[in-house]
Amino acid sequence: MIEFSNIEIKYGNFVAIQNLNLEIQRGEFFTFLGPSGCGKTTTLRCLVGFIRPARGTIQVDHRDITNAPVEKREIGMVFQSYALFPTMNVFENIAFGLRVKKLSKAEVRQRVFEIARKIDLSEEQLFKNVSQLSGGQQQRVALARAMIMQPKIICLDEPLSNLDAKLRIGLRGELKKLQRDLGITTLYVTHDQEEALTLSDRLAVFNNGQIEQVGTPFEIYNKSASRFVCEFIGDINNLSPNVIREINAQSSQRLDPEKEGFVRLETISLERKDGFARLSGIVKDSEYDGVFTKYHFDVMGQTIKSIEKNDGVVLFEKGGQVDLFINPATVMQY
Ligand SMILES: Nc1ncnc2c1ncn2[C@@H]1O[C@H](COP(=O)(O)OP(=O)(O)O)[C@@H](O)[C@H]1O
Ligand SMILES: [Mg+2]
Repeated sequence: MIEFSNIEIKYGNFVAIQNLNLEIQRGEFFTFLGPSGCGKTTTLRCLVGFIRPARGTIQVDHRDITNAPVEKREIGMVFQSYALFPTMNVFENIAFGLRVKKLSKAEVRQRVFEIARKIDLSEEQLFKNVSQLSGGQQQRVALARAMIMQPKIICLDEPLSNLDAKLRIGLRGELKKLQRDLGITTLYVTHDQEEALTLSDRLAVFNNGQIEQVGTPFEIYNKSASRFVCEFIGDINNLSPNVIREINAQSSQRLDPEKEGFVRLETISLERKDGFARLSGIVKDSEYDGVFTKYHFDVMGQTIKSIEKNDGVVLFEKGGQVDLFINPATVMQY
């Protein structure tokens, strides 16, 4: 539905995005994930029409919109800072776009009430001033203001970043549900990998103005395409070539003995499993958090970490000797 082809975006002489190619399907929840400054916002603003690319095209439903004005694109946008009109009440903030389009009073009223219901804003809240609302409620208003225009696509740029952790997780669930119910194609920008994994149908990992990988959360996490993606997307072990050679000696799977290998913490088992290589470790440290414990083991002169679900009985003591089992099929190499 959305197709970026050979997009290059510049600020003066600085190339913020180099040759971006990406296709997003109708109805998808698609996320741009990456560290600050990698070009996520720039790409989104280019789609919305605030920035023109130096090169390349953007198509929506096979129509070239590269140079179309913002208001002709039917794309809604919600920012990290809510950017609400401070002098208007909630109702007028939400109604703004419809008033500009000169819809009748009755129709405006009906549509504002309808969207408010969907987005869980009470009638009482509609007639409050925006400054009387909490951050989470203000962000709902910003979302309602964008959605009421019935855009084909909605773009959300770090919409939850200004909220505290608990509220963020709550709103995340609501946002996902709303997106499913409405089936609207959604582009979401975040630097938070957990948010990206839980919300997205697919995501693109950005690094330094380029896309490193596009895939489902499972693919990005378990089949990371590059060392950058591997390390950005969560905690990981970096196995030395020494350890890789030991794994090779015990299995039929051939890993590259000259390279390091990357394995996720939760793929390491402390119980024997078929086809896994056994390595002997000494417990150096542990972080107990109730449900899980993260262990740091000394294995062949390097640290290997694992995450174990606690059973309320066993906790390995510092200095203890433990066997680690590694599945060669989960080792990623670059
Ligand atoms: N208006 C601007 N003028 C000049 N450089 C900019 C401007 N906006 C962003 N940049 C630069 O472009 C790069 C990408 O920025 P941005 O898209 O905001 O990153 P992200 O949203 O991933 O944090 C950064 O190096 C940033 O400093
Ligand atoms: Mg940004």
